[in-house]
Parts: sequence; C-alpha cells; structure tokens
Amino acid sequence: MVKQYPPETLELVAKAADVLRAGGLVAFPTETVYGLGADATNEAAVAKVFAVKGRPATNPLIVHVADARAAGWYAAVWPEKAERLAKAFWPGPLTIVLPRRTDMPKPIVPIVTAGLASVGLRCPDHPLAYALLMGSDLPLAAPSANRSNRVSPTTAQHVRDELGDDVDMILDGGPCRVGIESTVIDLSGPPAILRPGGISRERIEDIIGPVQMGHHASDEHTASTSPGQLPVHYAPRTPAFRFDITQRALIHPETGGKKNGMLVMGSGAFKEWGTIVAMPRDPEQYARQLYRLLREFDVMDLNAIYIEMPPDDPAWVAVRDRLIRATKPLPV
Ligand code: TXA
Ligand code: MG
Repeated sequence: MVKQYPPETLELVAKAADVLRAGGLVAFPTETVYGLGADATNEAAVAKVFAVKGRPATNPLIVHVADARAAGWYAAVWPEKAERLAKAFWPGPLTIVLPRRTDMPKPIVPIVTAGLASVGLRCPDHPLAYALLMGSDLPLAAPSANRSNRVSPTTAQHVRDELGDDVDMILDGGPCRVGIESTVIDLSGPPAILRPGGISRERIEDIIGPVQMGHHASDEHTASTSPGQLPVHYAPRTPAFRFDITQRALIHPETGGKKNGMLVMGSGAFKEWGTIVAMPRDPEQYARQLYRLLREFDVMDLNAIYIEMPPDDPAWVAVRDRLIRATKPLPV
C-alpha cells in the first residue's frame, strides 16, 4: 500500500529540507534510533555534526539514502551480496560498508567517512526518514543524535534533552521501533559484521552465506575504525554494573540512602516497579525499551544501575553487546 503523507508533514519536511540545504542539522527518526542528519555532500555541515556530538574525526558516519539505487550511486561497486542484502533487509536496520565513489559531481565528502575509502550506506525504515530523504534529495550523514559515547536517543524528547539548541530542527516520529542501532556489515572485503544490531548474523548468513564477526586483522582500510567497538560506549552517567543470575543475591535495591536501578530478566511480560524493571525475555522487545530505561534511570539520582545479563545465545548478541559497553562487571 502506498502511504500518502498529510500536508502538515510535507510542510515540516520541506522546512527541514531547507535547513539541510543551508548546511544546518536536522534530527530525524529512524526505526533504530534518532539520527543527527546533515548533507553528506557538504563538508561544513558534516563538520558541525562531529562538533555537536564531540565525536572524534576518526569515527566515520553512516550515510542514509532513500533506496538501494541511491546507495548504488554513492558506492564505487555494487556487489551481488549487497544486492541480495538490500533486497532482503532494506529498508531496515542494516548498514552496508562498500568502497566510496568519488568520480562524480557531488560525492560524499571525505570527512563523512573519516577519510576512509569506504562508506557505510543505510536505507532506514521510517516514513519520516523516507520523506526527508525524498524531500531534500540529499544523502544524509547521520550518526545517532546523542553526544559521543552516550546512550542513543529513541524519542524526539531524548534528542531535545541531549542536544537542545545545538540542533536546528527535530522531526518527531514517535518512539523508535527497533531501539538499538543497525547492524553494520563490511562488504568491501570478505563479509564481516563490524557492529551487531537490528538484523542478526543468522539472518544475514541465510542470505549471503558465512560472515565473520569483527574486523580482519589484514583489512587496512577498516582496521583502525571500529569505534562502535570501543569498550565503553552507549553508557549512562550513573555507574552501571552487569551481573548474572548467580549473583542476584549480592545486589540490594537500596544502598546508603540512595536507590539502585535494576533491570532483571522477567518471567513474562514487561513490568516496572519504580527502579526495578522486569525486562521482557524477547530480545526485540528488550531492545525497544533499553535506551529509554537507561535514560530514565540516569535522571533519578541513583546510587548505581545493576543489569542482569540476558542469556549468552545468538538471539541476544546485539543487546548483550550494548549492555557490555554500557556497564562494568559487578565488583566482587
Ligand atoms: O541505526 C543506526 O545505524 C543509527 C541510525 C541513526 O541510522 N546510526 C548510527 O550511527 O548508529 P553511528 O555513527 O552512531 O554509528 C555508525 C557506526 C560506527 O560504529 C562506525 O564506526 C561504523 O558505523 N561505520 C560507519 N562508516 C563506516 C565505514 N566506512 N567503515 C567502517 N565502519 C563504519
Ligand atoms: Mg552512536
């Protein structure tokens, strides 16, 4: 079914497109998390993204495009594996890293990709993101709309709280459906997942066969650049610790007058009792709530946040990855 946009939406999108064309920053919803968007062909605009986030210039940004044809436009090659993944998962939470095309009128500027010869391309699955890409007719460089190393925003209010006036405009598309970032797969060499995310390794392997986790040591153009793989990332400000079920008895809901926030694995449905939350046993539902809860805990002046790790099995890889980056092991 083709979706018709109401006139109010198109007016907002036209305004946002003007901001982008003038080199401004627009935060927009995607199915994963909110992005902080800039014209990927405008060096000064992209420089602002790095400045606002406090992001090191060595950490490349993802470029968002409306569809696979637009992705093919900005890539120097379009391998069959890219074609098959795009057919299977786009629009959706998958970023495909390919060699970047430069011999063209308005190429993606090198600052976007931290000078790398490759570019991460993603076609997001959100009607407002699609409208913005179509309405602006620009490739949009957009990292998650948070300060560097902080929790990614999953609502427009999170973006407002975190970036305030540093962003020229925020498009509000409601809470994000996936809730954690896209899977990043590098196809510029042998297929390798650089960041687990919204699409699992198993689903990718069903489409293109075996895929490695992490970088190839021999892969020069990507070896220096897996900032999503820095040990601390996506972290709340409150000290946060992870534990497993055998350590449950070590944790008390109150310590020295202040409360602790706790995410425990629930038996059934999602339940919140103040600072104790029974998390869903379904990884997709868990992911959808995680960043919101970490942000809510972060403004509660808690002693600490304790998070019970979900099972160490393939369905939980992306959630466990985020939890490990957000927490330290329980001190014993
Ligand atoms: O779901 C998402 O991917 C969100 C939404 C807004 O689309 N975006 C996002 O962007 O998470 P960011 O910048 O926070 O994360 C981008 C990740 C980083 O880990 C970065 O290192 C990797 O993608 N990346 C981007 N371009 C790359 C490239 N050319 N080579 C290797 N890794 C790349
Ligand atoms: Mg990010």
